Amino acid sequence: MIRLIFLILVPTFFFHSFGQNINLKDISPFPIGTSVRIQPFLKDKKLVDLQKRHFNSITSGNDMKMYEIIKKEGVYYWDRIDTIVNYAKTNNQRMFGHNLIWHFSTPRWVRNKARENPAWLDKFLKEYITEYVSRYKGVIHGWDVVNEAFEASGGEYRKESIWYEIMGKEYIEKAFRYAHEVDPDAILFYNDFNIERDTSKLNSVLEMVSDFKKRGVPISGIGFQMHIRMDIPNEVIAYTLKKAADTGLQIHLSETDIIFNIHDDNKGGGVERYKELNEEMKLAQAKKYKDLVLMYRSIVPKEQQYGITFWGFNDRDTWIRRFFNMNDWPCLFDDNLNPKPAFYGFSQGLTSEL
Ligand code: XIL
Repeated sequence: MIRLIFLILVPTFFFHSFGQNINLKDISPFPIGTSVRIQPFLKDKKLVDLQKRHFNSITSGNDMKMYEIIKKEGVYYWDRIDTIVNYAKTNNQRMFGHNLIWHFSTPRWVRNKARENPAWLDKFLKEYITEYVSRYKGVIHGWDVVNEAFEASGGEYRKESIWYEIMGKEYIEKAFRYAHEVDPDAILFYNDFNIERDTSKLNSVLEMVSDFKKRGVPISGIGFQMHIRMDIPNEVIAYTLKKAADTGLQIHLSETDIIFNIHDDNKGGGVERYKELNEEMKLAQAKKYKDLVLMYRSIVPKEQQYGITFWGFNDRDTWIRRFFNMNDWPCLFDDNLNPKPAFYGFSQGLTSEL
């Protein structure tokens, strides 16, 4: 019992005294980002204050996806993006673009029209990317050009995508070429999930990347979404980061969070192994966050460290609860917007000697 109290209280005390005055962005050697949903976000002063204090990079959680931009043919809705871009400018933050092409955010009207007139889809791809990227040229620093083009596991190209269905895998390289043509300075990423745990999937992504490099397709980075679970082994994460970094491209941990329960990658739901978050779990999560940053810092060469972005920074608003309809505690801040041990673990990972 005494041992248990010691195990819990001492590190908790240590974390807290260590962390009183930390601003993540100021102690980090690379940009620290978070996604936000711009509308609820701006209404919540405490959230905005925290975001300004700790982050110097920002990604929109949903507002920049195709179904928000071009709800019907020929009409672009830029307002929300302009709001978030202004916020980024005013607060001196790097604006990251998520995302240009993703099967999941392609609106129904696009899918219908493409099936009626397959030749139209490539024209639309070019027009959409050209409009979008040129409008924010020099403002959006980097883009997830294509998101999740491979199946959840195993390394096949994703079949249930209108883009693949109509254009084959060529839609991917075309998207990169179109984006590069209008903004040659933007950093262009391929972004996906599970590549930190599924080596077959990672290998397929890396084959695509090396083919792109050979043929001069302008790809500049690989985004690891890094939606991980406590039991994804560090050794595997380290191995995959190393392989990706060996390409020489920028490496972005683009949607980081760490869950305890098991979610289903293909639909909502999952297995709620844990109903509550206890002290031991909090400390284990702090260690996992620390390990993750240490791996990123030690494996990815400095000039390839594009940064670490969180997919939201507090448990109250996490997408995991909404999207999978299950409980979890994946973030650095808790339901009351107070820093968790995870926050201090992450901070230590940023600063401790390698
Ligand atoms: C998620 C959002 O957070 C949810 O609000 C939305 O309902 C679905 O999309 N991978 C991605 C992100 O690339 O765009 C997803 O964001 C999370 C998984």
